[in-house]
Amino acid sequence: MELLKRVIQNAQKYQKRIVLAEGAEPRTLRATEIILKQNLAKIILLGNPDEIKKGAQECGVSIEGATICDPRTDPRRDLYADIMVEIRKSKGLTKSEALELLNDPLYFAPLMIKNGDADGEIAGAINATGDVLRPALQFVKTMPGVSVVSGAFMMFVNDPHFGHDGILVFADCAVMPDPNERQLAEIAVTTAKTAKAIVGMDPRVAMLSFSTFGSAKHPLVDKMSNATRIARELDPSLKIDGEMQLDAALVPEVAKLKAPNSEVAGRANVLVFPGLEAANIGYKLVQRLGKAEAIGPVLQGMAAPINDLSRGCSVSDIVNMVAITANQAAALFE
Ligand code: ACO
Repeated sequence: MELLKRVIQNAQKYQKRIVLAEGAEPRTLRATEIILKQNLAKIILLGNPDEIKKGAQECGVSIEGATICDPRTDPRRDLYADIMVEIRKSKGLTKSEALELLNDPLYFAPLMIKNGDADGEIAGAINATGDVLRPALQFVKTMPGVSVVSGAFMMFVNDPHFGHDGILVFADCAVMPDPNERQLAEIAVTTAKTAKAIVGMDPRVAMLSFSTFGSAKHPLVDKMSNATRIARELDPSLKIDGEMQLDAALVPEVAKLKAPNSEVAGRANVLVFPGLEAANIGYKLVQRLGKAEAIGPVLQGMAAPINDLSRGCSVSDIVNMVAITANQAAALFE
């Protein structure tokens, strides 16, 4: 896949420091060997060093070249705890509570990023999405001007007529259960940026609903048309339209009938769903029934790239996600 090749080549060039919070997990260890062999990133494995080394031995892989950090004994714990207390002082976080939280690699990893000791994080092979995201949201927080973290999927469908040569970006498939109008607008703007930065596409964003330009009357319809208006205010250069139904967004013949004056309808390559239920179900339908390859979720809007794996992920999913995270880090910091 051309896109993945480019993402991997870029990662090799950037040499970012990516922390893998589930350091002793077998797929993570196998991925680490591949990442180091391919020189994709500098890898930091979190966990008990003996368990990590034993795990690598049992998997029959070499992790030579990876840095191993033990969150329970690391000399930076005190410094990180002070940073945590400062960030959460309005919430009353005490130093002893912070030190306790730091025993958990899912907290230690975002603090490494916060202190400039790592450029990105990946976890989620053995932890739920919420548990990976919560520490990141609390301590790394969002990038300037953005209040919402969301998750995009790059969908590789088997028909080059759709999207950008068969690639579409869907959001938010991973984070916000019930976004409001303003949050949907932000999701549209950040997803367009992700589509441009990672896929290299000229984004055309469709705001999806069960109605096209007022064909149905309902508060949920108003929500998507208002979100479209707000997104235009946030980024006047954005090519965005809605609310519209999925067929109007993707099929030129339907667009001609339902939305003849839209520059997006019939040729959308970024789809913003009205909520997490629709988006999560939607991407899985396309993946499973439509046999599309789904890469993601790529988390967007965070001040540093922190990505969540599916617990069913494969070794190559982890390798690819490290490469994507390195590309995001480069886009954010350079
Ligand atoms: N963007 C930015 N900040 C956020 C967001 C967001 N999307 N969501 C929560 N926050 C902030 C809150 O403001 C809060 O900040 P504060 O503590 O400084 O006040 C902090 O993060 C924690 O938020 P809570 O609402 O207290 O935490 P919650 O326990 O609700 O966790 C979470 C938020 C984890 C994102 C939750 O909404 C969630 O679990 N979402 C669904 C994730 C999921 O299961 N996805 C589907 C599976 S993924 C897949 O299939 C690919």
